Amino acid sequence: MERREFVANVSHELRTPLTTMKSYLEALQDGAVEDAALASKFLGVTQRETERMIRLVNDLLQLSRLDSKDYKIHLERTDYLAFCQSIMDRFEMSKKQNIEFVRQFPKGSFYVLMDRDKLTQVIDNIISNAIKYSPEGGIITFAIRRRGNKIRTMISDQGVGIPKENLPKIFNRFYRVDRARSRKLGGTGLGLAIAKEMVEAQGGEIWAESDWNRGTTIHFILPLDRRDS
Ligand SMILES: Nc1ncnc2c1ncn2[C@@H]1O[C@H](COP(=O)(O)OP(=O)(O)OP(=O)(O)O)[C@@H](O)[C@H]1O
Ligand SMILES: [Mg+2]
Repeated sequence: MERREFVANVSHELRTPLTTMKSYLEALQDGAVEDAALASKFLGVTQRETERMIRLVNDLLQLSRLDSKDYKIHLERTDYLAFCQSIMDRFEMSKKQNIEFVRQFPKGSFYVLMDRDKLTQVIDNIISNAIKYSPEGGIITFAIRRRGNKIRTMISDQGVGIPKENLPKIFNRFYRVDRARSRKLGGTGLGLAIAKEMVEAQGGEIWAESDWNRGTTIHFILPLDRRDS
C-alpha cells in the first residue's frame, strides 16, 4: 500500500471514533449529564470508542514493528498440537456467544520452529474473525493436518462468507469487505494483514477460501521442524 493511502486510511480510522466521542461529550456538556441513564449510556459510547482507538494504535504499532528492519522473531521448537489445544481451551473458556468449537487434530506429536507469541496472535486474529462473523449457534472448526514436512491449519466458520472477488484482498491493510458491517462489528481491517506478515516471516503461507453465505476457511501452512521424524 502506498504511503499516502496508508496515512489517509489511518487518519480516517482515527477521526471516526474521535468525532463520535466529540459529539457524545458535547451532548453530555449540553445537559445529558443531568440524566443519569443517558449520561451512563453516552459515557459507555465514549469508552468503547476509546478502546477501539487503542486497538487500532496497537495494531499500527505492530505493523510498524513488522516493517522495521530490526524486526526479530524468536523461534522456539514447539509441540504444535499442545500449543493449539491451549489456544482453543482459552477460547472455550472465554466464549460469550452461542458458538461451538470443534477440534480436528491428528494423532501423534510434531514440532514446529515458531515464534509462539506471534503465532498466538495469528490464530487469535483468525478465530476472532470467525467468531465475529459466525451466526448464532454456528460451529467453528479448528483442523490440523500433516502433509510431508509441512503442517496445515484450517479454521472454518459457518458465517456470511466472503465474495470470491474480494478474497485475495482481505489480507491487505485496512481492507474490509463491507465497511458498514465491519464497523458495526468493530474491525479496522488490520487483523489479517498482521497475520499474513507474521506467517510469512516464519516461512509459512496463508490464504482464504469462502462460499458467500456458507462460511469461510482460513488456511495456513508452516514448515515442520526438520529435527523431528
Ligand atoms: N471469517 C470471516 N468471515 C467473513 N468475513 C471475514 C472473515 N474474516 C475476515 N473477513 C473479512 O475480511 C476483512 C478483513 O479482516 P481483518 O481481520 O483483517 O479485519 P477486521 O476483522 O475487519 O478488523 P480487525 O481484525 O483489524 O479488527 C473483514 O473486515 C471481513 O470483511
Ligand atoms: Mg479481524
